[in-house]
Formats: sequence, C-alpha cells, structure tokens
Amino acid sequence: MTIQFRNETFRNDFTYANSPGNIPRFPFPFPEDVYMYSTNVEPHHATRAGSPFEHAFDVDEHYVAEMKDRALVLADDPGRCQALPHMETAGWDFVELVMVSKARDYPDLFELTIDGDRWHWINKPLQIDDTFIFGDSSALPCHPMEYIGRQVQGDHAILDQRDGNLWLDAGIITAQADWSLDFDVGMNFFEWHAPVPLAHELGVFQRALKFLLSLPQGQPSRRLNWTLTVNPRLDTSPENYPKWGPDRTTVTPENIGEKIHLRVELQTFWRLPRSNAILFPIRTYLMAMNEVVTQPKWGRRLHRVMRDLRPELVEYKGLSRYHPILVEWLSQFDDGAPTSPGI
Ligand code: HEM
Repeated sequence: MTIQFRNETFRNDFTYANSPGNIPRFPFPFPEDVYMYSTNVEPHHATRAGSPFEHAFDVDEHYVAEMKDRALVLADDPGRCQALPHMETAGWDFVELVMVSKARDYPDLFELTIDGDRWHWINKPLQIDDTFIFGDSSALPCHPMEYIGRQVQGDHAILDQRDGNLWLDAGIITAQADWSLDFDVGMNFFEWHAPVPLAHELGVFQRALKFLLSLPQGQPSRRLNWTLTVNPRLDTSPENYPKWGPDRTTVTPENIGEKIHLRVELQTFWRLPRSNAILFPIRTYLMAMNEVVTQPKWGRRLHRVMRDLRPELVEYKGLSRYHPILVEWLSQFDDGAPTSPGI
C-alpha cells in the first residue's frame, strides 16, 4: 500500500500528529492576510498531485484511525447518525459515489466489481470484503449512509431539496466543530445557519443557497472553512461539551504550540443522481501550531489573520479565552515581510 496509516488517537492520550511529509499537503485556508466570511465556493476540480484536492474523496495517513474514532462515537451515541425515512435512496447514491470514486482513485486500496445489481466491494485498509444487492438495504448491516459513512473520512450531511430550500434530513456527524445533528436535523439552510454572525447581513447565505439549488450533477464544488481546537480532538460536539470545553482553560504560552490546532474543513457539494439530494462532506484536517509554523509563510500569515480577526468571529468560533496569547505567540513568526495573495 502506498499510504502508511498512522496508529493514533483523537482523545485521552491524543497521539495524533502529522508526519513531516504530510504537513505541506495541509489545506491552509487563508489566501490573504485578513479573513472574513464570503461565498467562497469554487469547482471541485482535481488540482495539484499529492494535494487534498487531487481526488474526489481524499484518503490520507489518518484514515484508519479516524474510522476507529467514528466507531467509538457511534457506539456511545447512535444519535450522531440519523436519516429521515425519505432519505434511503440518497443513502444509496452516497454509497455509489464513494465506492466508484475510491476504487477509481485508489485502486491499490479499494476494489469495486459491479455485475448488474450485484456489487462486490473490497476495502483493504479496513479489511472489509462485502457482496450486496445495490438498492436492497436489508443486505447491509445498517442504513446505506451509515454503512459507507463508516468508511470515508469526514462528516457527511445529506440535504433534501424541495420548496426552493435545502433540508438537513440525514447525516453521519461524529467530528463536528460544535454543532449538533440531533438539534439541526430537519432544519432548512437558513435555520441551521442562524447562529453564524455577520454572514447573513453580508448576503453570504442567500447567494450560497441560490448556487447550491442549481448545482448540476457531475460538477461538484468545494469551499474551505476553519476554526481552532484545543488538542487534536475530532469530536467537539455540543453533546460532549463537558469533555472538551474545559480544555480551553488549559492553554498557556508554554504549551500553546502543541495544544492549539488549526482545524480546516474541506467542504464539498455533490448533486446525487437518483434522489436529487446534495451530499455535503465535511472533511476535517487538524494541524498543531508547532506544525503550522514549520512553513514560514503560513506562520507569518496566520499571525496577521488572528491579530485582525473580527471580535464577533473570535467569540463565535470559541477562541476568546486564549486568543490574546495565541496572537502574542504567533507574532514571533511574523517578520513583517509583505505576502502575496494565494496560498
Ligand atoms: C456554519 C452546515 C453550506 C457558510 C455552519 C454550521 C452548520 C453548517 C451546521 C454551524 C452553525 C452553528 O453554529 O450551529 C452547512 C451545510 C451546508 C452548508 C449542511 C450544505 C449545504 C454552506 C455554504 C456556505 C456556508 C455553501 C457559504 C458559502 C458557513 C459559515 C459558517 C457555517 C460561514 C460559520 C463557520 C465558522 O465560522 O466556523 N454550516 N453549511 N455553509 N456555514 Fe455552513
């Protein structure tokens, strides 16, 4: 196999780390020295061999460990995976999209053989070898969305489209940045985005919804979103706030480089063929500050972005407690040199 999967944890002893070769492929999310919300959606074209944008669904060294963490979350709280009854066809669309893409993009890791309705799927990293009738959910151990969602990095929401809106009617969400599927399920695009500051007034959500409603099949799109997390913890859900909220009080100038992680979401948007639903993968990448600043242009830019971040975003993203010491710590990596647009 071409990828060496790391044996690591996202909880308790937090052994998660990026190997040196993995650091340059991190999707650093800041094309400028300042950050503000925008309708930053672009075509999800294959770009840059080796980057997270090369393939439809990026598989990296954290794949196996992330799937283990997902299984732990689901065992603890089955409510992290929910699908309203009309979303079963969309679940099968999701199965098809992932299996076809992964078998095409990573033939050494995944194999798919299709013989009419009879599908044979081999997932080597997770040691899965299954044969099933496509479209027959009784042939799977669980809902098709859960079956494939346990085999693909990132959270996945599936949006039903009706009445000129998108409805969050299904999802497998175990690695979220402080939002709850259980709370949001059944809501529409404006309802689940209601807590976000400033973006509504800027028209970001009206434009984004208009774009998504006419998303064509076969032309996926993507955007990056980001926040910060204390420790490399994937599951920062409201449900588990008592477990991770207090971590924010543990940050000091001495440990900030290893504790604070830049958390980047590669979000993609896919029109699904049978259901006309939209699949919304939210693929999370974590990188410790000590790793980020190994790339001088990232350290320099991150200092400027954090220093000038609007207070509303500092508050909404939950950074208030340690934001001042982070800015101070990052300042040592900013030599004041001018930066050019782009990443
Ligand atoms: C935040 C879901 C598409 C922009 C969020 C939140 C959720 C969410 C659950 C957290 C809200 C909270 O605080 O409870 C989704 C889903 C989408 C989608 C399911 C798929 C259709 C988009 C698009 C844009 C966008 C297309 C803009 C172009 C944002 C922004 C935030 C946000 C700016 C705040 C993030 C932050 O500051 O960390 N989204 N979103 N979303 N969303 Fe979306």
